Amino acid sequence: MEQIDVVTKDVKNFSLPPHMEDYETHRKTFHWDKIKKDLEWFSDGKINAAHNAVDRHVNNHRKNKVALIYESTSGQVEKYTYLDLKNQSNKFANVLKKLGVVKGDRVFLFLPRIPAVYFSFLGALKIGAIASTLFSAFGPEALVDRLGNSGAKLVITTPELKPKIDQIKDKLPSLTYIVVVGKNIETSGNVPITVDYHEEMKLASKSFEVEHMDPEDLSFMLYTSGTTGKSKGVVHCHLASIQQYYTSKLIHDLHDEDVYWCTADHGWVTGISYGIIGPLTNGATVVLYEGRFDPETWYSAIEKHEITLWYTAPTAIRMLMKAGDELPKKYNFSTLRHIYSVGEPLNPEAIRWGIKVFGLAFHDTWWQTETGSMLIVNYPSMPIKLGSMGKPFPGIHAAIVDDNGNELGAEIEGNLAIKKGWPSMMRGLWKDEERYKKLFKGDWYITGDRAKKDADGYFWYIGRADDVIKTSGERVGPFEVESVLVEHPAIAEAGVIGKPDPVRGEIIKAFIALRAGFNPSPDLEENIKKFVKEKLAAHAYPREISFVDSLPKTRSGKIMRRLLKAKELGLPLGDTSTLEE
Ligand code: WTA
Repeated sequence: MEQIDVVTKDVKNFSLPPHMEDYETHRKTFHWDKIKKDLEWFSDGKINAAHNAVDRHVNNHRKNKVALIYESTSGQVEKYTYLDLKNQSNKFANVLKKLGVVKGDRVFLFLPRIPAVYFSFLGALKIGAIASTLFSAFGPEALVDRLGNSGAKLVITTPELKPKIDQIKDKLPSLTYIVVVGKNIETSGNVPITVDYHEEMKLASKSFEVEHMDPEDLSFMLYTSGTTGKSKGVVHCHLASIQQYYTSKLIHDLHDEDVYWCTADHGWVTGISYGIIGPLTNGATVVLYEGRFDPETWYSAIEKHEITLWYTAPTAIRMLMKAGDELPKKYNFSTLRHIYSVGEPLNPEAIRWGIKVFGLAFHDTWWQTETGSMLIVNYPSMPIKLGSMGKPFPGIHAAIVDDNGNELGAEIEGNLAIKKGWPSMMRGLWKDEERYKKLFKGDWYITGDRAKKDADGYFWYIGRADDVIKTSGERVGPFEVESVLVEHPAIAEAGVIGKPDPVRGEIIKAFIALRAGFNPSPDLEENIKKFVKEKLAAHAYPREISFVDSLPKTRSGKIMRRLLKAKELGLPLGDTSTLEE
């Protein structure tokens, strides 16, 4: 078979004309100010992202349109209209008000993928609180860092997840309320006070006066990993929703007829920007699928909900590929009209496979927690060069720069940088102005990715410039894993790297030096993996462990992960002049 390297148009015919007919023309005439009128502004010039995502549609033809289709782990389906979403998020905003939550307070969601995610996230925005999400896979160590650093006032969770909060609540002086979504909740008056979600929602009024927010006021924050130190709180403002809205419209090509499924968990920025804000601001019908990844149930979800637009990630695609080409033949994918991917490099083979199985090419999109929305992407109307991330969104100026911030020419590898000032750019790192400033070089935001641009203006991803690990699309900081590892009684020191993996992109690999009196064994290895899974996060444990006598360190005592990685991959060791004797 002839190998496809470029897709000029989707293999299936587009049943709807794309919102952006021609990229170059749109780019030339584009300005953010023109998009502002698409959103509803209050008469005082203020805005609220939740109002635009939900309430606005209740005043137009979308009032009784289904906003959310939820499928539970047991296969039960619930549907919520835009009016339902408005009422439920208003109720939650009233619950927060009753509890004394005010503008600027931090409200954290520690929830599985259930409708309460939407009600509480949007309710928090309506009252002007800063909403944040936590992966339900997080363990106490990851939770205490995030809830502690942010000074969270309230956490909403379930009875199954609450014990993890209970373990650390004494270390969280700001935490005043734990709202629990479940049956027969035992409330308690001791701080942090336990509140019964359903009971309070029943009592709450469905009328709420949405807080008018300055476009620059913060709306949500998300902790994400860097190369050193603990995870950092990336903060976003209400104005960001304009870009989440417009990128959803042009890149995901949402039309009123569409049923859209973003497979990302809400613990990840994708689940917020493109699970909640972007699609709802477009008035779309969004699918929320609670279950874990499983090829059969994923395929049947597409068929059952007649999904037309599907946003997923390379690891999931590769896992579907692994499940074979016979399985998808059992399902009807004729409703699908456009599919896309995010989070890690999308290999050409995955795109070719998508064409074979779905008759559609996965369109790769590049962005980060820090960028708030998709910035470099493949558009429905633009030819795809397989393996390329595509071109910058209209209004975005992306470039490859050297370490001093000088722009480099075509085909030269360098730092992927974005000219600062786009609406959904992070507005800071929580309580860490110093670290925030270091992310910029002059007018450039330095992304931490290495890439190159070709003569046609397409960007090609090369790798991370730092030690950040991307495993199954999740961003993991090696320092966080190392910190937990050294708490294990048998471990003296640990160094952690991302090791290339054909399915997961990378896996976490730990090099461990044991304390005197401990010896390597399969049991110990299992025990260490379990230790990290339980303390930090189920997705952040080292799938591979090598026991070593000692770790390569700089003279100042820093573990040289670069060297560990080079050795592991059999690459040249590079400059070792700072290596400890
Ligand atoms: C990587 C994800 C290659 C990249 C929304 C980036 C990608 C980091 C792509 C951000 C892509 C994201 N191709 N690499 N299409 N998309 N990445 O903050 O290294 O979890 O810097 O946000 O993921 O990860 P984050």
